[in-house]
Amino acid sequence: MNVLILGSGAREHAIGWLLRKQNECAEIFIHPGNSGTLVSGFKSFPKERSETQILEQASLNKIQLVVIGPETFLAQGYADTFRKAGFLVVGPDQVAAKLESSKVFAKEFMQKAGIPTAPSHVFSSSEALKSFSNSHWPWVLKLDGLAAGKGVLVAQTEADVNRFCDKVWNQGSFGSGPHQVLCEQFIRGQEISYIGFCDGRSFVPLESATDYKRLCDDNQGPNTGGMGAVSPSPFLNTQLESRIHQDIIKPLLSQMQKMEMNFRGILFIGLMIDSSGAPWVLEFNTRFGDPETQCVLPKLKSSFLSLLLATAKGELHLLENPVWDSRVSLFVVATTPGYPEYPELGGQIQGLERLSPNTQVFFAGLTKKGTQYFTQGGRVLGLGSLAHSASEARKTVYDQMALLHWPGIHYRKDIGIS
Ligand code: GLY
Repeated sequence: MNVLILGSGAREHAIGWLLRKQNECAEIFIHPGNSGTLVSGFKSFPKERSETQILEQASLNKIQLVVIGPETFLAQGYADTFRKAGFLVVGPDQVAAKLESSKVFAKEFMQKAGIPTAPSHVFSSSEALKSFSNSHWPWVLKLDGLAAGKGVLVAQTEADVNRFCDKVWNQGSFGSGPHQVLCEQFIRGQEISYIGFCDGRSFVPLESATDYKRLCDDNQGPNTGGMGAVSPSPFLNTQLESRIHQDIIKPLLSQMQKMEMNFRGILFIGLMIDSSGAPWVLEFNTRFGDPETQCVLPKLKSSFLSLLLATAKGELHLLENPVWDSRVSLFVVATTPGYPEYPELGGQIQGLERLSPNTQVFFAGLTKKGTQYFTQGGRVLGLGSLAHSASEARKTVYDQMALLHWPGIHYRKDIGIS
């Protein structure tokens, strides 16, 4: 079977890497991919980007299964187009993808389903949001749309609200609008991600992982897409997992069925566990997490292709539970200076040839010119290791990371510690 993975990050590299390692696919394409995925031997289509051109290339190359990585493709309806054209697709259709692309849609879905989530209000103008009188700071402000992680602010003061309003409605930082902002009560606790294969009737969880979202050690600095991950998550236990299934997954699947939602893809549930141990849903993503995927997939011992196919066909209930390697997996992301707001690109990458062949490297924002590699995105690459303890995995990863260099290279030194 020929498989097409859409996307260009380390997440897509990890998906392709595992499919190739398990050796159940004839050809694997990652489109557009990046210089690193090309050098690693994955095929890509010619540079065209339009949906129609990708569809043509997919037919020409006898693709049977399409795995959609990024939320932008899902929000644009790529899953619908590929399904209509007869491909098997891992990725929800455009309406179901609104669970990620519209915070207001997701909140209404949760309320209808009776899923525990913070109380909220929706505002359509700067004036209405600014005059919303309250005394329960902080509030979480969420722009209703995809904003690459930049549309959320935990507002501690009125000044924060005013700044957010200016960005949304006056400065046009998120396009011309019209815009809506969901204003949600802040819940204190431990944040965890719960990710699984979902076909609208069944949910098969991936091995747990903790993502390190803040840029700097000790969880300081701005939020990022994710600076590293460790699996299993130290914050998930059997009791909490069964509560997540009872309080969240069960009503979620029942609501999907009520709405006849065509969700055949990956569902990523962002949770806050409060001080009493109760899970609250903060957000849904309708795709694999990045970097959680790079950390978790190396632990999958069962057939990844079978899981993807069962998801695409709506047959997850027919599969045995997947088997996971019991070792610790650790993954560290290296970035350019200025990431996440203003990444400085174009720095020469040195040391790739020094990495041990046993090192797990997944490429994201880099490009090759001649024989040299240069940074081309905020998150450049990640290194990972599987080991019997987190400290052993950490030593391997950080020893290898020390062999790499580009101007201003940045990575957290505490992945797997705090
Ligand atoms: N690591 C968080 C995300 O993929 O959105």
